Amino acid sequence: MTQSQFTPRVFSGIKPSGGLTLGNYLGAIKRFVGMQGAMETMYCVVDLHAITVWQDPKELSHATREVAAGYLAAGLDPSQSILFNQSRVSAHAELGWIFNCVARVGWMNRMTQFKDKAGSNAEKVSLGLYAYPSLMAADILLYHATQVPVGEDQKQHVELTRDIAAKFNHDYKTDFFPMTEPVIDGPATRVMNLRDGSKKMSKSGESDMERINMRDGADLIAKKFKKAKTDPEPLPDTLDGLKGRPEARNLVDIYAALSDTTSEAVITEYAGAGWGRFKPALADLAVDRLAPISDEMTRLMDDPAEIDRILADGAERARKIAEPILSRTYEIVGLLR
Ligand code: AMP
Ligand code: TRP
Repeated sequence: MTQSQFTPRVFSGIKPSGGLTLGNYLGAIKRFVGMQGAMETMYCVVDLHAITVWQDPKELSHATREVAAGYLAAGLDPSQSILFNQSRVSAHAELGWIFNCVARVGWMNRMTQFKDKAGSNAEKVSLGLYAYPSLMAADILLYHATQVPVGEDQKQHVELTRDIAAKFNHDYKTDFFPMTEPVIDGPATRVMNLRDGSKKMSKSGESDMERINMRDGADLIAKKFKKAKTDPEPLPDTLDGLKGRPEARNLVDIYAALSDTTSEAVITEYAGAGWGRFKPALADLAVDRLAPISDEMTRLMDDPAEIDRILADGAERARKIAEPILSRTYEIVGLLR
């Protein structure tokens, strides 16, 4: 097979570990919706990834449904995209094991996310946290996905996926797995922490004030933007003027992503504006975009059986794509089935 013979297919996923943030929305979900319809799209709630760090079982099932509700509320349509949770398709874990035997320890040692997460505690974190990029490669390659929309922080993991595919193809003298492309585009591929512009906005920061959660109410969103760290300067009239001002740049990028425009256009509109004008405008915009999604999530979460039905149906469709690919992989490796 040459690369062009792989059918275009999009795969991406989000971990159900805590609530969804504005970073997940702008860096992932909103972009997932944008790719829907143009080609086959599969969006997964990657529960097996969540348990690489401790998850309370009740909270895990709740968080899994909540990510699914976020997908649906933001506009992913189960008749256009395959929506499912990872653990329902056991082939992820099976291919993950094979890839653990393809990936090299030296490659894993270079993963910056692992180094950040493990920190000085590397001896005590789970083996799963260390191996997780190899499971992520399995998630993607199990469907021969050609494109993976993710935030900037996942770029290295998609590159590792390509390394695993290339080594598998080379070792087994085949061209079975595609060279998947990361899709990292738009103004908000790395939404930063509101209190420290050098850190990524994440689900698990120390203070809730450093992130916007998709389910925060209007007052809380306004308060968080009002208290967001900035500098005393007004907005410049070119993007160049934001160099060395990471917090200011972040708020401009968030505004651009929420209003479907570019950061340049936002700077042109707000050139010379002070924070007293820009921050309330940003808060209004965020509330305007997030409130309907959050309301819809609340409505969906009132009917967990319906979410479960959608995820089970998606898993069945996913399994149909995965099974022949996993079977062929076993055959290539020489495993008797
Ligand atoms: P996670 O919550 O770690 O499972 O991330 C799910 C998706 O959201 C991945 O594609 C991430 O790259 C993306 N994402 C998470 N946080 C951010 C952020 N602060 N900025 C942009 N994208 C993000
Ligand atoms: N590792 C990703 C994250 O932490 C989540 C993820 C798991 C993923 N499998 C994936 C993303 C496959 C894209 C494709 O954000």
